[in-house]
This record gives sequence, C-alpha cells and structure tokens, in this order.
Amino acid sequence: MKRIVILISGRGSNMQTLLDAKLPCEIAAVISNKADAVGLEIAGARGIPTVAISHKDFASREDFDVALAQEIDRYQPDLVVLAGFMRILTANFVNHYAGRLINIHPSILPAFSGVNTHERALQEGVKIHGCTVHFVTAELDHGPIIIQSAVPVLLNDTPATLSARVLREEHRIFPQAVRWICEEQVWLNEQGHVASDRLEQLGSTLTSPGLD
Ligand code: GRF
Repeated sequence: MKRIVILISGRGSNMQTLLDAKLPCEIAAVISNKADAVGLEIAGARGIPTVAISHKDFASREDFDVALAQEIDRYQPDLVVLAGFMRILTANFVNHYAGRLINIHPSILPAFSGVNTHERALQEGVKIHGCTVHFVTAELDHGPIIIQSAVPVLLNDTPATLSARVLREEHRIFPQAVRWICEEQVWLNEQGHVASDRLEQLGSTLTSPGLD
C-alpha cells in the first residue's frame, strides 16, 4: 500500500476529506508549517502522526525546504500532497519529489495562479471558476493537470460565497486524484505529461450562465 504525507498550513478541510475518503493508501503523517494549524489537531485526534515545522525558524527558504524534506522523508512517502500548504517551494525541493508531489489550487489553472483567486475571478468578471489538482513543478501553480472542476460565478457572488462553492468541488476532486495515483491509474510520465490507463472517462459540460 502506498504511503502519503500531507502538508497543510491552516484549517485542513481538504486534508480532512482525504482522511474521510477511505483511500487505498496509508496516511503516514500530516506536517504543517504552522504549529497552530487546526488541521494538525484533527489529524492528531485520528491517531495520525503530526509534525509542526515553522518556516520562521530558518534563515532562508532553502534551509526550511531542506529541513522540511528531511522530515517528510522520515516517513518514506510514495506521494506528498499539498493540501492548502501556503509556502512557495524551492526548485530543489520540487525536483526531489518529481512525479510524487501534487497540489490543489482554487482556480481553473492556468488562470489565476497565486493567491486571492476568488477575489481576482470576481474582479475579472469570469462566469466560470473552479479548482485544479496538479503535479507540482518548479513553476508556481503551472504543473501538469490531473483533474479540474468548474463552478458558475453567480451575479451576487462575494469572495466568500464563491470560495465556498469552489471548496465543495475541491473536496470532490482531491480525493479522486489521490485515489487515481494510489491505484496507479494516473501518473506523471517521462515526458512530464499526465498519463492514465483509465478505460472510461465520464464527461459533463458546464455552461454559465445557462442557455435559455
Ligand atoms: C484551499 O482553497 C486550497 O485550494 C488552497 O487553500 C485552501 C486551503 O483550505 N490552496 P483547507 O485548509 O484545505 O481547508
């Protein structure tokens, strides 16, 4: 059974959906760069080993990433999952986990990489927004895409209402992506593309606003 390590920074709702999903893998540890992350308590209460390692204790991003990788590697993970981990990672770190590091991002990438995605989507007036799970590469939020889910942007949306709608989708697609990888149905190939041997691809469309 594959082993995964989950990295978080805050409330950990995406982490929790992974814990709840009965995935075919062992969740070896949850690690946070913030000691007060609520997600650490949730994981700890379920008997999962938790670690807090603060970036503030290190002189540079490189030093933090080296220490973080050492901590992660103690658990010998097959897959490292960024579930709301709010730190930019160095190229050395990312390359060390090439093909076994994934992230969830609250936008339809490549639109709205970076932070404040819901505010920016509203500002731009897009009618469709959503979320993406992707393999992580050195370029921020630009790695090969595994799965995306779209939601409509409604006329009276605020960042809070839009973010809640997107978060529901995050909680659907994230466990799915982890499951595919754990079951070796999806992987990153030598060309750096997402490959899959899934025989069936269910499709659906979203048009927003809806047609009359
Ligand atoms: C999520 O929206 C995730 O996509 C983003 O940060 C948020 C983390 O939420 N990177 P949670 O900690 O999983 O509840």
